[in-house]
Amino acid sequence: MEVYDFAIGQTNPETFPMDAFRDAAIAAIEEEHDAFNRYPGGKGHAGLRQLMAERESQREGVPVDPEMIALMNGSMQAVTLAGQALMQAPGDIVITEEYTYSGTISAYKGIGLTMVGVAMDEQGMRMDALADTLQKLQRSDQKVRFIYTLTTYQNPTGTCMPLSRKKQLLEIADRYQLPIVEDNCYGDVHFDGAKVPSLYALDDSERQIYIGSLSKIFAPGVRLGYLLARKPHFNNIVSQRFDAGSNYFAAAVLAQFYKKGIWEHCDVANPVLRHKRNLVCELLNETLADFCVWSVPVGGLFIWVRLPEDIDMDKLRQVAAANNFYFAAGKDFHVDSKQVPYLRLAFGHVPDDLIKKGIPVLARSISAARTSNSARDFETLFD
Ligand SMILES: Cc1ncc(COP(=O)(O)O)c(C=O)c1O
Repeated sequence: MEVYDFAIGQTNPETFPMDAFRDAAIAAIEEEHDAFNRYPGGKGHAGLRQLMAERESQREGVPVDPEMIALMNGSMQAVTLAGQALMQAPGDIVITEEYTYSGTISAYKGIGLTMVGVAMDEQGMRMDALADTLQKLQRSDQKVRFIYTLTTYQNPTGTCMPLSRKKQLLEIADRYQLPIVEDNCYGDVHFDGAKVPSLYALDDSERQIYIGSLSKIFAPGVRLGYLLARKPHFNNIVSQRFDAGSNYFAAAVLAQFYKKGIWEHCDVANPVLRHKRNLVCELLNETLADFCVWSVPVGGLFIWVRLPEDIDMDKLRQVAAANNFYFAAGKDFHVDSKQVPYLRLAFGHVPDDLIKKGIPVLARSISAARTSNSARDFETLFD
């Protein structure tokens, strides 16, 4: 029985570089086996940090010091440690987009932070809503400690924040003296158009904390991500870790794999992902244009679909699952777990033939989970 699994954001097994990965693993063992006898320490493999500094510097056009990079066990560890370092007391507030990565919601709520969501539009977090929210929270007993934002290929909505809005965000954060944690987990899973500079490239203040990953350009199983920050946050965040460092073997293999830079593999993987994005969007257009609106992301792994108001989300999940179609529901990404008429499609790892068969299954499931067959009464992704 075929399974249409659009639920989890994973890389595409079709472009996994098996031969080069095997060669890199052998070279890492031959050349670095001695170092495997030692604990890696807080920052981790120097060669991979150097490569990630080059990756960031080439993309962002600013110098990046590898000594200000700490490798992590996936970017998720960096997200969590940054929250722990910036929180001073349980109940402290972190501001995020209204919809954000479900893993971050679990981690931040899990360590005792209160999450306050800010309304979004097609360009990410809305700055009028952010300014309003911060003004209101000034009167609260709970303290706002930082902003966590996904400015690029946002998970789940696929939005990108343009330069003008990033500058506004920096101004607001400066006014309130708030650190910003910018999670650029999907950085370099890029399909179309020019890349917009990251917040740390636009602002050389100590308040910028940046998170990158190898999960999305290589594979999540290597569990490698990184934190890039300036003092004092860099030291404060790294001092929260008690795991003796991240997997040195995985780092050594990837340092070998990326010896000639990181772009070669991106140039192979990204066009295939772009093709999958186009295929999903074409099929959505054929089957759901009268009822739904969706994002056409310029990068990342997700398409965000707005559903008609009369959808029963629980029924949709049941009907879809009964037909082997799996998606992530909007509620899972809402900071207050609100039941919302949205779903997220992760397309990166789904073979083309299953995309072609799967999207019509989704369309039929949506029809079955509605109380009417009326056309949508909205034109945009957000109100
Ligand atoms: C926005 C975001 N941040 C962090 C992560 C964690 O990724 P990893 O720990 O594999 O680098 C994910 C994974 O999906 C994500 O979407």
